[in-house]
Amino acid sequence: MRELFDAELNIDDCPRSREELIAAMKTADVLVPTVTDRIDAGLIAEAGPQLKLIASFSNGTDHIDVDAAAKKGITVTNTPNVLTEDTADMTLALILAVNRRLAEGSRILTDKPGDWEGWSPTWMLGRRIWGKRIGIVGMGRIGSAVARRAKAFGLAIHYHNRKPVSPATEEELEATYWDSLDQMLARVDIVSINCPSTPATFHLLSARRLALLQPGSIIVNTARGDIIDEVAMVQLLRDGKIAGAGLDVYQNEPAVNPKLVKLAREGRVVLLPHMGSATIEGRIDMGDKVIINIRTYFDGHRPPNRVLP
Ligand code: DGY
Repeated sequence: MRELFDAELNIDDCPRSREELIAAMKTADVLVPTVTDRIDAGLIAEAGPQLKLIASFSNGTDHIDVDAAAKKGITVTNTPNVLTEDTADMTLALILAVNRRLAEGSRILTDKPGDWEGWSPTWMLGRRIWGKRIGIVGMGRIGSAVARRAKAFGLAIHYHNRKPVSPATEEELEATYWDSLDQMLARVDIVSINCPSTPATFHLLSARRLALLQPGSIIVNTARGDIIDEVAMVQLLRDGKIAGAGLDVYQNEPAVNPKLVKLAREGRVVLLPHMGSATIEGRIDMGDKVIINIRTYFDGHRPPNRVLP
Protein backbone atom coordinates (compact mmCIF):
# COMPACT_ATOMS: atom_id res chain seq x y z
CA MET A 1 0.00 0.00 0.00
CA ARG A 2 2.84 2.35 0.89
CA GLU A 3 4.60 1.76 -2.42
CA LEU A 4 1.48 2.35 -4.47
CA PHE A 5 -0.47 5.02 -2.61
CA ASP A 6 -0.10 7.91 -0.24
CA ALA A 7 -1.39 5.58 2.45
CA GLU A 8 -2.00 6.08 6.12
CA LEU A 9 -1.70 2.59 7.53
CA ASN A 10 -3.16 1.13 10.68
CA ILE A 11 -0.01 -0.72 11.59
CA ASP A 12 -0.92 -1.39 15.22
CA ASP A 13 -3.76 -3.66 13.97
CA CYS A 14 -6.24 -2.25 16.54
CA PRO A 15 -9.77 -1.19 15.54
CA ARG A 16 -10.03 2.54 14.91
CA SER A 17 -12.30 4.70 17.11
CA ARG A 18 -15.38 6.31 15.59
CA GLU A 19 -13.67 9.71 15.78
CA GLU A 20 -10.67 8.38 13.87
CA LEU A 21 -12.95 6.84 11.27
CA ILE A 22 -14.86 10.11 10.87
CA ALA A 23 -11.57 11.98 10.40
CA ALA A 24 -10.55 9.46 7.73
CA MET A 25 -13.93 9.77 5.96
CA LYS A 26 -13.38 13.53 5.70
CA THR A 27 -9.89 13.36 4.20
CA ALA A 28 -9.23 10.04 2.45
CA ASP A 29 -10.17 9.13 -1.13
CA VAL A 30 -10.35 5.46 -0.17
CA LEU A 31 -11.18 3.83 3.13
CA VAL A 32 -10.02 0.25 3.77
CA PRO A 33 -12.02 -1.00 6.77
CA THR A 34 -12.06 -4.47 8.30
CA VAL A 35 -15.01 -6.33 9.84
CA THR A 36 -14.48 -4.58 13.18
CA ASP A 37 -15.07 -1.10 11.68
CA ARG A 38 -18.78 -0.32 11.65
CA ILE A 39 -19.32 1.81 8.57
CA ASP A 40 -22.97 2.65 9.19
CA ALA A 41 -25.19 5.31 7.63
CA GLY A 42 -24.25 7.85 10.32
CA LEU A 43 -20.57 7.46 9.55
CA ILE A 44 -21.14 7.54 5.79
CA ALA A 45 -23.08 10.80 6.22
CA GLU A 46 -19.82 12.29 7.58
CA ALA A 47 -17.88 11.41 4.40
CA GLY A 48 -16.41 14.31 2.48
CA PRO A 49 -16.94 14.59 -1.30
CA GLN A 50 -13.41 13.23 -1.89
CA LEU A 51 -14.30 9.74 -0.52
CA LYS A 52 -14.95 7.61 -3.60
CA LEU A 53 -14.28 4.05 -2.52
CA ILE A 54 -14.68 1.81 0.52
CA ALA A 55 -12.40 -1.14 -0.30
CA SER A 56 -13.13 -3.49 2.57
CA PHE A 57 -10.49 -5.94 3.76
CA SER A 58 -13.15 -8.61 4.26
CA ASN A 59 -15.39 -11.09 2.55
CA GLY A 60 -18.50 -10.17 4.54
CA THR A 61 -19.90 -6.65 4.13
CA ASP A 62 -22.48 -6.68 6.93
CA HIS A 63 -20.38 -4.04 8.73
CA ILE A 64 -20.97 -1.56 5.89
CA ASP A 65 -24.24 0.16 5.00
CA VAL A 66 -23.86 -0.45 1.28
CA ASP A 67 -27.17 1.31 0.50
CA ALA A 68 -26.09 4.48 2.29
CA ALA A 69 -22.73 4.38 0.49
CA ALA A 70 -24.41 3.96 -2.91
CA LYS A 71 -26.74 6.90 -2.22
CA LYS A 72 -23.68 9.03 -1.59
CA GLY A 73 -22.00 7.79 -4.77
CA ILE A 74 -19.37 5.77 -2.88
CA THR A 75 -18.39 2.42 -4.39
CA VAL A 76 -17.91 -0.54 -2.04
CA THR A 77 -15.69 -3.57 -2.73
CA ASN A 78 -14.79 -6.68 -0.74
CA THR A 79 -12.38 -9.64 -0.96
CA PRO A 80 -14.41 -12.74 -1.87
CA ASN A 81 -13.11 -16.19 -2.93
CA VAL A 82 -9.77 -16.05 -1.14
CA LEU A 83 -11.21 -17.00 2.28
CA THR A 84 -13.41 -19.81 1.03
CA GLU A 85 -11.14 -22.81 1.55
CA ASP A 86 -9.71 -21.56 4.88
CA THR A 87 -13.18 -20.95 6.31
CA ALA A 88 -14.38 -24.34 5.07
CA ASP A 89 -11.35 -25.97 6.75
CA MET A 90 -12.27 -24.28 10.02
CA THR A 91 -15.86 -25.47 9.71
CA LEU A 92 -14.69 -29.08 9.46
CA ALA A 93 -12.21 -28.48 12.27
CA LEU A 94 -15.10 -27.37 14.50
CA ILE A 95 -17.27 -30.34 13.51
CA LEU A 96 -14.40 -32.67 14.40
CA ALA A 97 -13.57 -30.75 17.57
CA VAL A 98 -17.14 -30.90 18.90
CA ASN A 99 -18.00 -34.46 17.93
CA ARG A 100 -14.61 -35.93 18.86
CA ARG A 101 -14.03 -33.72 21.95
CA LEU A 102 -10.68 -32.36 20.78
CA ALA A 103 -10.49 -29.26 22.99
CA GLU A 104 -11.62 -31.23 26.03
CA GLY A 105 -9.08 -33.99 25.40
CA SER A 106 -6.26 -31.51 24.94
CA ARG A 107 -7.25 -29.68 28.14
CA ILE A 108 -7.03 -32.92 30.13
CA LEU A 109 -3.37 -33.25 29.26
CA THR A 110 -2.48 -29.58 29.66
CA ASP A 111 -4.67 -28.50 32.61
CA LYS A 112 -5.24 -31.74 34.58
CA PRO A 113 -2.58 -34.22 33.43
CA GLY A 114 -3.11 -36.45 36.49
CA ASP A 115 -6.67 -37.19 35.33
CA TRP A 116 -5.44 -39.47 32.55
CA GLU A 117 -4.85 -42.97 33.81
CA GLY A 118 -4.39 -44.44 30.35
CA TRP A 119 -6.65 -45.80 27.63
CA SER A 120 -9.90 -47.43 28.60
CA PRO A 121 -12.87 -48.54 26.48
CA THR A 122 -15.22 -45.80 27.62
CA TRP A 123 -12.66 -42.99 27.91
CA MET A 124 -13.54 -39.74 26.09
CA LEU A 125 -16.18 -41.16 23.81
CA GLY A 126 -17.39 -38.75 21.17
CA ARG A 127 -19.81 -39.05 18.30
CA ARG A 128 -18.83 -40.64 14.97
CA ILE A 129 -18.74 -38.29 11.99
CA TRP A 130 -18.91 -40.87 9.18
CA GLY A 131 -22.42 -41.76 8.08
CA LYS A 132 -24.08 -38.75 9.68
CA ARG A 133 -26.08 -36.05 7.88
CA ILE A 134 -24.89 -32.47 7.57
CA GLY A 135 -27.35 -29.68 6.79
CA ILE A 136 -25.60 -26.73 5.19
CA VAL A 137 -27.44 -23.43 5.49
CA GLY A 138 -26.26 -21.37 2.51
CA MET A 139 -24.70 -23.22 -0.41
CA GLY A 140 -22.58 -20.43 -1.85
CA ARG A 141 -18.82 -20.67 -2.25
CA ILE A 142 -18.07 -21.49 1.39
CA GLY A 143 -21.06 -23.82 1.79
CA SER A 144 -20.00 -25.77 -1.32
CA ALA A 145 -16.41 -25.99 -0.06
CA VAL A 146 -17.75 -27.33 3.26
CA ALA A 147 -19.86 -29.86 1.33
CA ARG A 148 -16.85 -31.16 -0.63
CA ARG A 149 -14.90 -31.70 2.60
CA ALA A 150 -17.88 -33.14 4.44
CA LYS A 151 -18.43 -35.66 1.65
CA ALA A 152 -14.83 -36.82 2.00
CA PHE A 153 -15.53 -37.42 5.70
CA GLY A 154 -18.45 -39.68 4.81
CA LEU A 155 -21.22 -37.24 5.68
CA ALA A 156 -24.45 -37.18 3.67
CA ILE A 157 -24.89 -33.67 2.29
CA HIS A 158 -28.18 -31.82 2.76
CA TYR A 159 -28.49 -28.13 2.06
CA HIS A 160 -30.87 -25.21 2.15
CA ASN A 161 -30.34 -22.28 -0.16
CA ARG A 162 -32.43 -19.68 -1.92
CA LYS A 163 -32.19 -21.91 -4.98
CA PRO A 164 -30.67 -25.32 -5.71
CA VAL A 165 -27.10 -25.55 -7.00
CA SER A 166 -26.57 -26.82 -10.55
CA PRO A 167 -27.57 -30.44 -11.22
CA ALA A 168 -23.87 -31.21 -11.95
CA THR A 169 -22.79 -29.89 -8.52
CA GLU A 170 -25.67 -31.67 -6.80
CA GLU A 171 -24.61 -34.90 -8.48
CA GLU A 172 -20.91 -34.41 -7.65
CA LEU A 173 -21.74 -33.77 -3.98
CA GLU A 174 -24.60 -36.27 -3.87
CA ALA A 175 -26.40 -33.42 -2.18
CA THR A 176 -30.08 -33.20 -1.25
CA TYR A 177 -31.74 -29.80 -1.59
CA TRP A 178 -34.31 -28.69 0.99
CA ASP A 179 -36.51 -25.81 0.00
CA SER A 180 -37.85 -25.87 3.55
CA LEU A 181 -35.19 -25.00 6.13
CA ASP A 182 -37.51 -26.29 8.88
CA GLN A 183 -37.74 -29.72 7.32
CA MET A 184 -33.99 -29.96 6.82
CA LEU A 185 -33.20 -28.91 10.39
CA ALA A 186 -35.42 -31.66 11.76
CA ARG A 187 -33.53 -34.33 9.82
CA VAL A 188 -29.81 -33.61 10.15
CA ASP A 189 -27.16 -34.36 12.76
CA ILE A 190 -24.89 -31.39 12.06
CA VAL A 191 -26.02 -27.90 11.05
CA SER A 192 -23.40 -25.70 9.43
CA ILE A 193 -24.15 -22.00 8.99
CA ASN A 194 -22.55 -20.71 5.79
CA CYS A 195 -24.80 -17.90 4.59
CA PRO A 196 -24.02 -14.17 4.80
CA SER A 197 -25.47 -11.94 7.50
CA THR A 198 -28.18 -9.77 5.95
CA PRO A 199 -31.46 -8.39 7.30
CA ALA A 200 -33.10 -11.50 5.79
CA THR A 201 -30.80 -13.94 7.64
CA PHE A 202 -30.93 -12.19 11.03
CA HIS A 203 -31.94 -14.94 13.53
CA LEU A 204 -32.64 -17.27 10.61
CA LEU A 205 -32.10 -19.96 13.20
CA SER A 206 -34.78 -18.56 15.47
CA ALA A 207 -35.88 -20.13 18.76
CA ARG A 208 -38.73 -21.86 16.90
CA ARG A 209 -36.41 -23.32 14.25
CA LEU A 210 -33.73 -24.33 16.76
CA ALA A 211 -36.39 -26.30 18.63
CA LEU A 212 -36.78 -28.48 15.50
CA LEU A 213 -33.25 -29.88 15.87
CA GLN A 214 -32.74 -33.45 17.01
CA PRO A 215 -31.37 -33.96 20.55
CA GLY A 216 -28.08 -35.47 19.33
CA SER A 217 -27.40 -32.73 16.79
CA ILE A 218 -24.73 -30.02 16.83
CA ILE A 219 -24.52 -26.53 15.33
CA VAL A 220 -21.39 -25.07 13.76
CA ASN A 221 -21.19 -21.40 12.87
CA THR A 222 -18.27 -19.89 10.96
CA ALA A 223 -20.41 -17.20 9.26
CA ARG A 224 -21.84 -14.49 11.54
CA GLY A 225 -23.20 -14.65 15.08
CA ASP A 226 -26.47 -12.85 14.41
CA ILE A 227 -27.72 -15.58 12.06
CA ILE A 228 -28.52 -17.67 15.15
CA ASP A 229 -30.69 -16.62 18.09
CA GLU A 230 -27.79 -17.11 20.49
CA VAL A 231 -29.88 -16.89 23.67
CA ALA A 232 -32.22 -19.62 22.41
CA MET A 233 -29.27 -21.80 21.35
CA VAL A 234 -27.65 -21.44 24.78
CA GLN A 235 -30.91 -22.52 26.44
CA LEU A 236 -31.18 -25.63 24.22
CA LEU A 237 -27.57 -26.53 25.02
CA ARG A 238 -28.14 -26.07 28.75
CA ASP A 239 -31.30 -28.17 28.61
CA GLY A 240 -29.48 -30.91 26.68
CA LYS A 241 -31.89 -30.52 23.76
CA ILE A 242 -28.96 -30.29 21.35
CA ALA A 243 -25.67 -32.05 21.89
CA GLY A 244 -23.12 -29.32 21.19
CA ALA A 245 -21.94 -26.34 19.22
CA GLY A 246 -18.74 -25.18 17.52
CA LEU A 247 -18.67 -21.41 17.17
CA ASP A 248 -16.21 -19.00 15.60
CA VAL A 249 -18.56 -15.99 15.59
CA TYR A 250 -20.87 -14.36 18.15
CA GLN A 251 -23.82 -12.04 18.24
CA ASN A 252 -22.01 -9.31 20.21
CA GLU A 253 -18.46 -9.96 19.14
CA PRO A 254 -15.87 -9.58 20.66
CA ALA A 255 -18.03 -10.08 23.79
CA VAL A 256 -18.92 -13.74 24.27
CA ASN A 257 -21.98 -14.82 26.26
CA PRO A 258 -20.60 -16.12 29.62
CA LYS A 259 -23.09 -19.01 29.48
CA LEU A 260 -21.42 -20.18 26.28
CA VAL A 261 -18.03 -19.96 27.96
CA LYS A 262 -19.36 -22.09 30.83
CA LEU A 263 -20.70 -24.67 28.36
CA ALA A 264 -17.29 -24.71 26.65
CA ARG A 265 -15.60 -25.40 30.01
CA GLU A 266 -18.01 -28.29 30.50
CA GLY A 267 -16.97 -29.65 27.10
CA ARG A 268 -20.14 -29.52 25.00
CA VAL A 269 -19.16 -26.40 23.13
CA VAL A 270 -15.98 -25.36 21.33
CA LEU A 271 -15.41 -21.62 21.01
CA LEU A 272 -12.93 -19.87 18.72
CA PRO A 273 -12.25 -16.12 18.47
CA HIS A 274 -13.35 -15.40 14.85
CA MET A 275 -10.32 -17.02 13.24
CA GLY A 276 -12.02 -18.95 10.42
CA SER A 277 -10.15 -17.08 7.71
CA ALA A 278 -7.00 -16.41 9.72
CA THR A 279 -4.19 -17.83 7.58
CA ILE A 280 -1.12 -15.92 6.44
CA GLU A 281 -1.82 -16.86 2.84
CA GLY A 282 -5.44 -15.73 3.10
CA ARG A 283 -4.55 -12.35 4.54
CA ILE A 284 -1.95 -11.75 1.79
CA ASP A 285 -4.55 -12.69 -0.84
CA MET A 286 -7.05 -10.30 0.78
CA GLY A 287 -4.49 -7.49 0.64
CA ASP A 288 -3.85 -8.20 -3.04
CA LYS A 289 -7.59 -8.02 -3.74
CA VAL A 290 -7.93 -4.71 -1.92
CA ILE A 291 -5.10 -3.25 -4.02
CA ILE A 292 -6.52 -4.59 -7.29
CA ASN A 293 -9.93 -3.11 -6.44
CA ILE A 294 -8.43 0.30 -5.66
CA ARG A 295 -6.22 0.38 -8.75
CA THR A 296 -8.97 -0.78 -11.07
CA TYR A 297 -11.33 1.83 -9.70
CA PHE A 298 -8.86 4.69 -10.16
CA ASP A 299 -7.89 3.40 -13.62
CA GLY A 300 -11.50 4.17 -14.49
CA HIS A 301 -12.83 0.60 -14.62
CA ARG A 302 -15.39 -1.31 -12.62
CA PRO A 303 -13.52 -2.94 -9.73
CA PRO A 304 -13.73 -6.75 -9.86
CA ASN A 305 -15.25 -7.14 -6.40
CA ARG A 306 -17.83 -4.38 -6.39
CA VAL A 307 -20.61 -4.97 -3.85
CA LEU A 308 -24.00 -3.87 -5.10
CA PRO A 309 -26.66 -2.54 -2.72
C1 DGY B 1 -14.67 -11.79 6.56
O1 DGY B 1 -13.77 -11.25 5.92
O2 DGY B 1 -15.85 -11.58 6.33
C2 DGY B 1 -14.30 -12.74 7.63
O3 DGY B 1 -15.34 -13.01 8.48
C3 DGY B 1 -13.11 -12.28 8.41
O4 DGY B 1 -12.58 -13.44 8.90
